[in-house]
Amino acid sequence: MTGAGDWRFNRSLPDLDDLERVQIEEFQRFYYDLWRKGGGTYDVSWLGYQTVKTPNDLIVYQEILTQCRPELIVETGTRWGGSALFLASICDLLGSGRVVTVDVEKFENRPEHQRIEYIHGSSTDPAIFAAVKNYAEQSLSVMVILDSDHAEPHVSSELSMYASLVSVGQYLIVEDTNINGHPVRPEFGPGPWEAVERFLGLDGGFVRDSQRERFLVTASPGGFLFRQS
Ligand SMILES: C[S@@+](CC[C@H](N)C(=O)[O-])C[C@H]1O[C@@H](n2cnc3c(N)ncnc32)[C@H](O)[C@@H]1O
Repeated sequence: MTGAGDWRFNRSLPDLDDLERVQIEEFQRFYYDLWRKGGGTYDVSWLGYQTVKTPNDLIVYQEILTQCRPELIVETGTRWGGSALFLASICDLLGSGRVVTVDVEKFENRPEHQRIEYIHGSSTDPAIFAAVKNYAEQSLSVMVILDSDHAEPHVSSELSMYASLVSVGQYLIVEDTNINGHPVRPEFGPGPWEAVERFLGLDGGFVRDSQRERFLVTASPGGFLFRQS
């Protein structure tokens, strides 16, 4: 990689000392509260389509796509389609990759793009999963992003199904691990963070990649999982 800075000086969220952690978590709560008031991550768009992403994380996604070049990107939770369009745009620039994205709701005016396939239904419906798996089986390398219903039982179900689609050397990204007090929305109850903890205890094939948290503000702390075996 060229011009990417000196990686020796990068420190990620897990590397912070106690005082730094307090400061960063304070900022994360401040930023997230802006979002809940209608600013923050809801006020992010890509080519005119709204995404529900922290801007830092979009750069991280670009880095992952550039380094790993997945042939297929599976996203659960499409919403307005801005993130699917972002991923497809990076695939355009790289000259490879396509996006299959699943949502239980059909939002109007999602972006049309030759690299995006929309699937309508619940991500954990066996018929929907079978349709996604069919795409995965036709692809040499698969990356998965879980960003639908954030309740722990649903994310755990998704992990038990979709993790198997992820190729060795690719990422499984679990979004919104920051809720339920990690450090935002302490009232949420068990969510993605707890599902990831449970999943990593069961599946030794994935490791957390904390380098993906080096911009310090992310919606996926501990949620960038790299498939190593
Ligand atoms: C946080 S939004 C997704 C944001 C999108 N990934 C982005 O980055 O812009 C969550 C979406 O999950 C969808 N959803 C909720 N439950 C679902 C389920 N069981 N299966 C699939 N999608 C679901 C919601 O309709 C909503 O559009």
